[in-house]
Amino acid sequence: MRAVYICSIYFLSFSMAAAQTEATLKVGAKSYTISELLKRPEIETVTVKHDPAYGGQEMQYEAIGAAALFAETNLREDEVVQFRCLDGFAASISKERIMHTSAGQSIAYIAIENPKSKWLDLPLKPSSGSAGPFYLVWLNPELSGILQEEWPYQVVAFEVKGRLKDLYPRMFPKHQEDARVARGLKLFQQTCFACHTMNREGPSQVGPDLNLPLNPTEYLKESVLPRYNRNPKSIRSWEGSKMPGFGPETFSDKDIANVVAYLIILG
Ligand code: HEC
Repeated sequence: MRAVYICSIYFLSFSMAAAQTEATLKVGAKSYTISELLKRPEIETVTVKHDPAYGGQEMQYEAIGAAALFAETNLREDEVVQFRCLDGFAASISKERIMHTSAGQSIAYIAIENPKSKWLDLPLKPSSGSAGPFYLVWLNPELSGILQEEWPYQVVAFEVKGRLKDLYPRMFPKHQEDARVARGLKLFQQTCFACHTMNREGPSQVGPDLNLPLNPTEYLKESVLPRYNRNPKSIRSWEGSKMPGFGPETFSDKDIANVVAYLIILG
């Protein structure tokens, strides 16, 4: 939510600047202007069924698959990416989630506001402007449990912050020789780390830390943890709960067992 509010505050000053220069999107070391992007062959019209920035309405955008642009920056596998908004607000975003292209997962697109057909103003606040110049939208957001925080709008850049190992050394177990643990760490980085910290390190605190003060494997039965990951509401259920369930199309039973093996070794 924070991104949703703060990103809109300084829109006015931007729109004055926009009168002079065309907006550009930075992705890593590269910069793209709107007109350059709109001319690319990968441009598609995407329909977002429930658009969080526009009060859940159905919206259509001219957009480019985020994976296509990210692929051009030659990011290293373990690099951490942040989005930055017009007002300077920045937050980490899971590069792995953005780069998914397989059918069983949510697919990220960068929606591009065409200056010739501007989007509606955001309904959240009067005079906050539209979600442009760039807005990260998702198709099938339910498949990977994409949260509202992962739909940043008024985006101007995706910046590379550094390597995971340097930024968050405490998520790496001392012993990773076990293939299950190594695989579990990878899955944790790709999915769980978008919401959970590990040993109090990490970009997002949507969910609790998964080792401190106590590791969940120390207070949840080993048979309960896999079920929790499949369907958290089958263990604890309340209106405000945010942890998405991961179906077999996202995580196999083996994947879940690997994540649990990773949690156990840290505990
Ligand atoms: C989209 C955000 C999000 C993602 C992704 C996510 N979680 Fe969670 N998780 C939460 C939140 C929020 C809670 C707190 C309960 C709630 O609100 O549902 C939680 C709770 C938990 C708990 C229970 C902790 C407790 O003490 O009750 C465990 C265990 C857990 N998550 C493990 C995982 C694992 C493992 C993954 C990756 C496979 C993961 N989560 C992915 C948001 C997320």
